[in-house]
Amino acid sequence: MARRSFVAGNWKMNKTPEEARALALDLRTRLNSYAKCDVAVCPTNLCITTVVEALRGSSIAVGAQNVFWEKSGAYTGEISAPMVVASGCQYAIIGHSERRQYFGETDATVNKRIKAALTARLKVIACVGETKEERLSNVTQQVVKRQVAAALDGLTAGDMALITIAYEPVWAIGTGLNATPQQAQEVHAFIRDLVRAKFGAAVADAVRIQYGGSVKADNAKDLLSQPDIDGALVGGASLAAKDFEAIVKAAK
Ligand code: 13P
Repeated sequence: MARRSFVAGNWKMNKTPEEARALALDLRTRLNSYAKCDVAVCPTNLCITTVVEALRGSSIAVGAQNVFWEKSGAYTGEISAPMVVASGCQYAIIGHSERRQYFGETDATVNKRIKAALTARLKVIACVGETKEERLSNVTQQVVKRQVAAALDGLTAGDMALITIAYEPVWAIGTGLNATPQQAQEVHAFIRDLVRAKFGAAVADAVRIQYGGSVKADNAKDLLSQPDIDGALVGGASLAAKDFEAIVKAAK
């Protein structure tokens, strides 16, 4: 089955509102008439409204980098899924390894955040991936299986229409050391099998699985041409419009 490619830029903790606006406008010029693939950018919470404004009426969607599971209340420092939707976002990244590594995110809290995002009708980019130690100990599949099972726990086949899974091996993030297309393809096929076992063939064939971890203009084509790699979640290279444009255009 043909899945439409999906390339998203995770801007992480980068760009002031002014810089975010300039990058968004540059991307808008470069990609606005580009219809071959779905594109989203995920700025900091501080810059969401600025970027939504800059991209209004374009083909580039905006996402948040996280959402909390309650709708409102005394949760200092958090923002909720309905707030993100009200600000013009269509997507939320959930469970990024940097959240897991530095901010105490667990499989259980990832699941709660995903469910809250789905309730608000946000599309979710659910992140999974093993550390270097886990890969070297040959437990990559075990780890990814646990993370996928936890992320999708309690979801219905209908919910899966709003889910993209991002496979981001932690050892490849920000290191310049991307997974080889073969390494990534192997895990992507494994993830698709997990989805097939839980939700059946139709859902598995339709779900998009992005690869993330040192995706650059020069390795994007090889990675994105693999049969089970349906797009990319791009960190560093999404901060320069020219590089991100090249990655989007490398998508099948
Ligand atoms: P890099 O592209 O900078 O390796 O980051 C990948 C990532 O974490 C995207 O979410």
